[in-house]
Amino acid sequence: MKFDFETPPNRRSTDSQKWQKYQGKDILPMWVADMDFRCPPPVLEALHQRVDDDIFGYARPTLSTTEAVLDYFQNQYNWKIQKEWILWLPGLGVGLNAVSRTLGKPGDGIITPTPIYPPFLLAPRWADRELATVDLVKNGDSWEIDWDAMEKAITPNTKLFLLCNPHNPVAKVWRRHDLEKVADFCLKHDLVLCSDEVHCDLILDDIEFTPTALISEEIHNQTITFHAPSKTFNIAGLACAIAIIPNPKLRLSFARTCKGIVSEVSNLGYAACEAAYRHGEPWRQELLQALRSNRDLLLQVVRDELPGVSATPIEATYLAWLNVEELHLDDPIGFFEKGGVGLSDGRFFGDGRYVRLNFGCPQVTLVEGLRRMKKSLETL
Ligand SMILES: Cc1ncc(COP(=O)(O)O)c(C=O)c1O
Repeated sequence: MKFDFETPPNRRSTDSQKWQKYQGKDILPMWVADMDFRCPPPVLEALHQRVDDDIFGYARPTLSTTEAVLDYFQNQYNWKIQKEWILWLPGLGVGLNAVSRTLGKPGDGIITPTPIYPPFLLAPRWADRELATVDLVKNGDSWEIDWDAMEKAITPNTKLFLLCNPHNPVAKVWRRHDLEKVADFCLKHDLVLCSDEVHCDLILDDIEFTPTALISEEIHNQTITFHAPSKTFNIAGLACAIAIIPNPKLRLSFARTCKGIVSEVSNLGYAACEAAYRHGEPWRQELLQALRSNRDLLLQVVRDELPGVSATPIEATYLAWLNVEELHLDDPIGFFEKGGVGLSDGRFFGDGRYVRLNFGCPQVTLVEGLRRMKKSLETL
């Protein structure tokens, strides 16, 4: 390996949200979705260079930064994006709130399959929209969208479908045939589709990724796609993300919702974004190897050494959705914290039978986390 994915960085006593949560406690944070890996060297170089300019006035992306995005999408996903389709955002949490306010009016509906990344559940509520959630179903080991239940949940007031692909937390990459159904459903019910594809550069298996907007010309015209370099290149704190909206009317509505409320991306965010998209590929390839190795180890340990805990295949992301219902714990998060591991609470995603474990860390950290979980289970 050319890059170091093995040495744990010291993030204690830094401004890290992930590590501050357990400051002063012997608890390994394996919750919020950022990784304990140093950023790609070209990103660090670009940031150093930008700091050396000594001025941090209001920022605007250069043509070169925008072209870095266009080239990335063309090369990775064969999607020819026009530069005017891109709206820059300081984060996709912001984007989820903005899109929830853009479609329809208070009281109108939004639909999403669950469990799901918690802001999908919260943003509609802050926007005074009615959220319909439909549980994903397990077909053997594979998660599926329950289309009969989706048809039952939709109302004439539903205006927006929130999709997460790859799906956080179940780590599934929706296939072309799934996305065709998503597109048909949205077109049939006249829904705008918001497809959050922030994890699409983190596919661990040999599965082709299709941006939902590319399923057909009709859905292309009705889709808001979210993307960012934040998860993949571990620069979430630099707050730089994009919404891709080909339809000019929809784009204007979304931009209007954001006007005066959503802050600008910073100079450092743009610099890191451009460097990541232009020069981050060799690092990303090695990251995928490290994550695959962690994923394989984790699934083996869950299977062989953590009785009462189970997992489904993890096709993408660095997040494991672990079923702990057989343990009959009143407070799974408290239980594992007591044993020295900080996980995300499945209840916030819509299913308290699960916890989510972030394995985006050097393998020694993961091994220690799993050792602690095993020890905790031995106390039951
Ligand atoms: C699916 C999904 N969307 C959005 C976000 C948050 O993005 P941001 O940090 O840009 O607000 C996350 C973070 O984990 C995520 O998993």
